[in-house]
Amino acid sequence: MAHAVPVSPIRLPASAVEVRGLTKTYAGTGKAGPKLALKGIDLTIPRGSLFALLGPNGAGKSTLINILAGLVNKSAGSVAIWGTDIDEHPRQARASIGVVPQELNMDPFFTPREILELQAGLYGVPKRERRTDELLAAVGLSDKADAHARSLSGGMKRRLMVAKAMVHSPPVLVLDEPTAGVDVELRHLLWEHVRMLNRAGSTVLLTTHYLQEAEELCDTIAIINHGAVVACEAKSSLLRRVDAKAVIMLVDRDLDAVPATLAGFTADLPEPRRLVVRYQPSRQRIDAVLAAVAAAGLSIVDLTTEQSDLEDIFLQLTGGAHAAASGTGAAA
Ligand SMILES: Nc1ncnc2c1ncn2[C@@H]1O[C@H](COP(=O)(O)OP(=O)(O)O)[C@@H](O)[C@H]1O
Ligand SMILES: [Mg+2]
Repeated sequence: MAHAVPVSPIRLPASAVEVRGLTKTYAGTGKAGPKLALKGIDLTIPRGSLFALLGPNGAGKSTLINILAGLVNKSAGSVAIWGTDIDEHPRQARASIGVVPQELNMDPFFTPREILELQAGLYGVPKRERRTDELLAAVGLSDKADAHARSLSGGMKRRLMVAKAMVHSPPVLVLDEPTAGVDVELRHLLWEHVRMLNRAGSTVLLTTHYLQEAEELCDTIAIINHGAVVACEAKSSLLRRVDAKAVIMLVDRDLDAVPATLAGFTADLPEPRRLVVRYQPSRQRIDAVLAAVAAAGLSIVDLTTEQSDLEDIFLQLTGGAHAAASGTGAAA
């Protein structure tokens, strides 16, 4: 009698990754004292999302990723990956996640095919279940399958690392600074590839210090700074927070207060003749600002505007931390 293959019930977790009270203190070395890199952070990564962990250098992004990957031990708190606690079932948790590290480390003498086969062996993927050719095709490396890794360009190596992170078909894929130091053209190719993986069902978590990358690619954005989460929300809602413009007007006479006609706006009077009016372009028009100024009997001598964007909110939330706000070479 044929043996029926048991169909395992598909149990989908509520979220792809759940981080609670996660703390990491690196032990001090030599003169350097201990470093508190993560300060009890909470983070929920929705299943199916394309999630950006955005923050300036040194914020703690790689520390968090490396804890998820099982490469760094946490000091306190809990982490569940695909519903599995990393302390209770470390192997199962690790099987649910594929991590592309920030630093590319690969043996230059192996070929892409060998690298994927070795990785599959490491994860105990049976020969008949391996998808080496499929993965190589997916990252556009079919014609390099048997070339030495050292002959691959930087971008090809990066793509090979993505394939390597996927040999065990993890539902959660993590990319640490996937496009750091990558030129503009290749960056767009990588973005397209990440979108494709996400559309195909992977939950993707990426870290980046490029605002533009988070904005272009991700549906959810968490901003971390000095080991703490300072924002975590849908991109659309984060961008709504930056739905703000300021118009700065020099008027023809000294004022001692903001005119009452501007009551519908947020207005300031930093100098007796300088009015700063903030408004939301999505629901207010500059016409209305100008009309309110005219209604106060003022003439405008000079006028400038300032637009707030993701860069502004980032700087605001990170206290002006020097992130590569737009990213070197990332400008469109
Ligand atoms: N192995 C380590 N030992 C001591 N300090 C570390 C170690 N790794 C990272 N740090 C420190 O922890 C903080 C966070 O680093 P990291 O997680 O690499 O930040 P990011 O990836 O956001 O740039 C930094 O201050 C960094 O210097
Ligand atoms: Mg890092």
